[in-house]
Amino acid sequence: MHQLTRRLKNSIPLHRYEHCVRVAEAGERLAAIWRAPRLETIQACLLHDCARDLPRNILLKWGVEFGIIISEIEHYFPVLLHGPVGAEFARRKYDITDEQVLDAIRWHTTGRAAMSLLEKITFLSDYTEDDRSFPGIERVRALLDKDLDEALLVALDQKINYMLAMGWPVHPATVEARNWLILNRD
Ligand SMILES: [Fe+2]
Ligand SMILES: [Fe+2]
Repeated sequence: MHQLTRRLKNSIPLHRYEHCVRVAEAGERLAAIWRAPRLETIQACLLHDCARDLPRNILLKWGVEFGIIISEIEHYFPVLLHGPVGAEFARRKYDITDEQVLDAIRWHTTGRAAMSLLEKITFLSDYTEDDRSFPGIERVRALLDKDLDEALLVALDQKINYMLAMGWPVHPATVEARNWLILNRD
């Protein structure tokens, strides 16, 4: 873990590294509450933004290089590729072999249908880490320890609302994540 944090710190801007550390702290807390594997959660949270600061043309280049299927919306907003490209960096640069960890990195921005516990925790830790403040965040924070799926649903609603307000397209995986949660609520 020490080696991983050192390599990460040397590879991304300091403010991003500090965000990743806060996400890992939030993730470690949630992993204890929801009984997710601690080490894997910390790995996913630490590395989730390892490709976040690449320029758009470089993200697209790595996307092609890694054989990632680049949809129209990702061509338009290459930043959406930092999850999938980050997962491949985690595999190739940071020696992560656990596919669950790689999936949590891959889907941390958009979410997807049938998210695993690790994916949910990584997504929500990124969304609610201590330094974040935006309207509605307290609603999500208040749900984190009580009902993880409800917290995720509220977070997805907020993300989608924001995209609608900005006039942006909504990634299909985000809509699928939300639909899945609603249709599979118990
Ligand atoms: Fe991200
Ligand atoms: Fe992040």
